[in-house]
Amino acid sequence: MTDWSARQYLRFEDERTRPPRDLLAQVPLTTARLVIDLGCGPGNSTELLIERYPQAEVIGHDSSPDMLRQARERLPKCAFIEADIATWSPEAPADLLFGNAVFQWVPNHPTVLRRLVERLPPGGVLAVQMPDNTRQPALALMQEVAAKGPWAANAALDEAVRADLPAPESYYDLLKPLCARVDIWHSIYNHVMAGPEAIVEWFKGSGLRPFLTALDPAMREDFLRAYLAQITRHYTRRHDGRVLLKFPRFFIVATR
Ligand SMILES: C[S@@+](CC[C@H](N)C(=O)[O-])C[C@H]1O[C@@H](n2cnc3c(N)ncnc32)[C@H](O)[C@@H]1O
Repeated sequence: MTDWSARQYLRFEDERTRPPRDLLAQVPLTTARLVIDLGCGPGNSTELLIERYPQAEVIGHDSSPDMLRQARERLPKCAFIEADIATWSPEAPADLLFGNAVFQWVPNHPTVLRRLVERLPPGGVLAVQMPDNTRQPALALMQEVAAKGPWAANAALDEAVRADLPAPESYYDLLKPLCARVDIWHSIYNHVMAGPEAIVEWFKGSGLRPFLTALDPAMREDFLRAYLAQITRHYTRRHDGRVLLKFPRFFIVATR
């Protein structure tokens, strides 16, 4: 349970790949020589980068062996490297550092973002997307379930709670002194899901991982049952039986 599961993550590949498409669409580089996909996961975002910059050397970095295994299988010609972004620095000046849905997992990520921007060459770009969904029911209910069950005394569950992102203004003030341009925006997706169970399956591949990792297998099943009951109460089925998963996401494109 401690490693990510590429298989679980890819169950919602189309929905999960739309934000990196939208992020890449705003990257103002017509060509690039070196592109790094930070937190490349199973290679879905890396594939977009290769399509957009076919002449570039594109390298994927991730800390998860399972994700890297899947990425190498998907894109055998591409280099994938195991690395922790918290301490990683580019060996050569990269034209584009691309981090889709990863920096929310990196402790003290604003400091890391600033360090990465400092290492960009003139005209180089840092492009980042992070979920900004900590106030959405799907995330708030993880915390609520963690606080009430027989597992409530487990201190590791407190650490599983993801903090709110800092305000957009603080990213602007952090990065603009180093950049010619900082473009910041939010998009809110409304993913059409088959039902409440699908929402649980979605988060088993991402936000629920730290909670489930903190529990033993029996407790894990009970936790998931309690979480599904809450999700079912909060996400009402639409006329066709499906539910909408509202998902706000935060984007930054910083050009040195
Ligand atoms: C939600 S997935 C994003 C995958 C892909 N970039 C995408 O666009 O769908 C997050 C990835 O970040 C990786 N990750 C999390 N923390 C990391 C860290 N500190 N260093 C490197 N990779 C990390 C995870 O292993 C996982 O593969």
